[in-house]
Amino acid sequence: MAELNLILMGPPGAGKGTQAERLVDDFDLPYYATGDILRAAISEGTELGKRAGPIVAAGELVPDELMCDVIMERIDTPEAEDGFILDGFPRTVRQAEVLDDALDRRGRSLTVAILIEAPTDEIIRRLSGRRICVENQHVYHVEFDPPKVDGICDQDGSRLVQRDDDKPETIRRRLAVYREQTEPLIERYEEQGILRRFDGSRSPEEVHSHIRATLATLALEAEI
Ligand code: AP5
Repeated sequence: MAELNLILMGPPGAGKGTQAERLVDDFDLPYYATGDILRAAISEGTELGKRAGPIVAAGELVPDELMCDVIMERIDTPEAEDGFILDGFPRTVRQAEVLDDALDRRGRSLTVAILIEAPTDEIIRRLSGRRICVENQHVYHVEFDPPKVDGICDQDGSRLVQRDDDKPETIRRRLAVYREQTEPLIERYEEQGILRRFDGSRSPEEVHSHIRATLATLALEAEI
């Protein structure tokens, strides 16, 4: 494969960020997660953060034009020349159109859209027990993936906290928004022939090995 331009899709809590951490290690590609970018902007109090803060806290979507700018400027950096991993973008039909057009103008295209699916009760269990570190947003779960030392990130030693939007009523709204605005993209990528589905209810290791096997097959097919 000349370049690997990968997007991670799926409902909140399906395990996109968890798998992204592993794929970044596997492929050494830049990783752009719109949720992480927004949370960093909110905690730094930037203009973007001030606009996005109340929207994210309510579980709604930040306006398309803001998110498109955030991603386009990253895709155009030299570090993304050989590929990228997008997590949480695109999330609406409009964002998908902007991304496709922008890549097309640059003679590029998406290689694969990885869809990780999980049942709603599992999603609620995962999001309720999720903790992230304040420094780099590394992801843990109090039961399924606990840190070695309670409340402390294994990787950078910073404090673990619960996300503001992981409250039960906000989780329900995020799930509804996903179904209304993001699920229609599944059909789009299916039609483009780049969608690959994964059962996110398996263990993180199993999901990871399935994704790796799929990407290896794609790489082989690209060489044939
Ligand atoms: P974002 O941060 O993208 O949230 P999300 O899509 O709701 O996804 P999550 O981060 O909640 O879940 P995940 O699938 O990454 O799961 P994780 O790996 O952490 O977006 C937040 C907000 O920002 C949005 O609501 C919106 O307001 C705004 N926004 C972002 N992008 C936008 C855009 N493009 N346009 C407009 N607005 C935008 O796993 C969850 C938990 O489960 C963890 O605790 C983990 O340890 C555990 N876990 C993971 N995998 C497994 C497994 N296989 N088995 C057991 N436990 C597991």
